[in-house]
Amino acid sequence: MVDLTDFIQQVKRANDIVDVIGSYLELRHNGSANFVARCPFHGEKTASFNVNRAMQIYKCFGCGESGDVIKFVEKYESLTFMEALERMAKRANLKMPETLLQKQDKDYAARKQKQDVYFAICRDAAVFYYKAYYSEKGAVAREYVESRGFTPDTVKKFGIGYSPDKYSLVKFLQDKKYETEDCLKCGVLQRSHNGDVFDALSYRLIIPIFNMQGKVIAFGGRGLTEEVTNYGKYKNTAETPLFLKKNNLFAINVAKEQKQQSALPNIVVVEGYMDVIAMYQAGFKRAVASMGTSLTESQAKWLSRLTSTVYICYDGDAAGQKATVRGLDILDKAGLEVKVMSVPENLDPDEYIKKYGAEAFEKLIENALPLPDYKLALLEKTFSINSPDAAKRNDALSKYVKGALIMLRQLDDVRQSQYIAAVSLKTGFSQEYFRRKLTEDVKTETPVAETAQQISSETQAKYFVACCVLRGEDYASVEEKPRCDTVFLSDLYDYLLKCREENVSPSVDMLYTICPDATEQEYSQIIDVDLSKSRREKNKQYFKECKLLLKKEELKGKKERLLEEIKQNPDDVSLLEQLAKLSSELN
Ligand code: CTP
Ligand code: MN
Repeated sequence: MVDLTDFIQQVKRANDIVDVIGSYLELRHNGSANFVARCPFHGEKTASFNVNRAMQIYKCFGCGESGDVIKFVEKYESLTFMEALERMAKRANLKMPETLLQKQDKDYAARKQKQDVYFAICRDAAVFYYKAYYSEKGAVAREYVESRGFTPDTVKKFGIGYSPDKYSLVKFLQDKKYETEDCLKCGVLQRSHNGDVFDALSYRLIIPIFNMQGKVIAFGGRGLTEEVTNYGKYKNTAETPLFLKKNNLFAINVAKEQKQQSALPNIVVVEGYMDVIAMYQAGFKRAVASMGTSLTESQAKWLSRLTSTVYICYDGDAAGQKATVRGLDILDKAGLEVKVMSVPENLDPDEYIKKYGAEAFEKLIENALPLPDYKLALLEKTFSINSPDAAKRNDALSKYVKGALIMLRQLDDVRQSQYIAAVSLKTGFSQEYFRRKLTEDVKTETPVAETAQQISSETQAKYFVACCVLRGEDYASVEEKPRCDTVFLSDLYDYLLKCREENVSPSVDMLYTICPDATEQEYSQIIDVDLSKSRREKNKQYFKECKLLLKKEELKGKKERLLEEIKQNPDDVSLLEQLAKLSSELN
């Protein structure tokens, strides 16, 4: 059984952080072990992103982000941790241990192999459609695309294609020696009741759907003639092992690509393929489409890997629906800032941009409502709280208040009091009324928010001691674990003591493996300490003082416990003797 931590360490040793990050960013040498670049995680003009070869870590002094080589690849490529680890393992020609793969999935290898076949079929089908678009038969598609105002560049960017008939694709894939069953399984071909196998999207304009890694996983097909649209304006690839509509977002690959050029301040979620494509052409290159379904947790997860703020831009009729609001709450729960746009005249973004231009659309983005305001606006639209009829008005008011309370309950304290004020103003109910209602109904205690407290000198000492040992200062060692108030310190000391036991030197970058959930402030206590040669004597002296302080703390703890015991057994002389010894040691 291979230990995950050991394997991670092995992978990291085999992938020098400067080499890896240097393959993504323009790194400038700056001091013996230090390299700098412009930070890929936040927009900046100066280079505050530091890569340190000795410590095998990176840190941006602009946005505070730090990590090791795997965390970099994970964030930069928007992968999961395991995916990033696998990629780095591959880069170093290390085989992921079976046991680790099995941890993810028992039949992982077999499934992955099948998956690769499906990916290949989808890719080849996309090439086929793309070529067909430019063939003689593709004239009808080209005319249609032109009539909608899309340029050849746009067509190329999205890989738009055309299915010329029912059987050409079947033959094309057979010639490529794919099994028909596999082609059916990934939804590219379809089989009718009588056993006839044909192109699932025949005669349609083809819009390939890519996953985050830029691989084709499915297609959207738009009918161009009434004959075809009678069977649905759009037909998509059926749900397959590669594609679940509710788990994917159209153009997520484009958004990711944009993020790699500069941090994405936000992403706009729209409903349709054509909206995304029209927006891209108008210069809005960070739009994705939910493909007409309401948003899910897995989509929220993809989005939160790319950005912190999401604008929702749905067609008029969809915007007010319950399912839509539920989707917005899902985004909110995933930690995303949610804003809702509204497009006048019931137009979709594509139509709006065509009619009023890109600048007008930019205005709609600026005017988007924060989620709570949007919910209040929705309530106001539903209930006529300003009705001249007193009975109607009161009824509407009580419904509005009920709805408002549901909204208020989802807010953090700061925003809650802000919105209580607004709602009170709107309804004429006192702020006190809302506050009481909110505490009344909530039975469970809300967890006390972590307050930014001053770090005690003992805690400071624990950080410094750990820092010196971890970073290999020759005067530093640690023999026992102090009392640790935080998971971070506790895990860190466990690691340092384990290294001591096994007689190996600890390494700084393991911070991110041992304590993956620590805050940047915590990491900073270790990696930002100045241990340069010029400060060596000072640091050495301070280290001694810290150790002494920790010794004192330990003895004090012992003394307290002893006093407690003496209270229980006041006649035990040996306890008193121990106390005397402890007290003198303390002095
Ligand atoms: N959709 C679908 N199947 C349908 C209709 C719609 O899958 N029969 C999905 C498509 O992803 C579509 C989105 O819902 O892009 C939004 O639908 P709609 O607004 O009708 O389409 P548009 O994107 O506006 O397309 P167009 O402008 O070509 O009409
Ligand atoms: Mn449209």
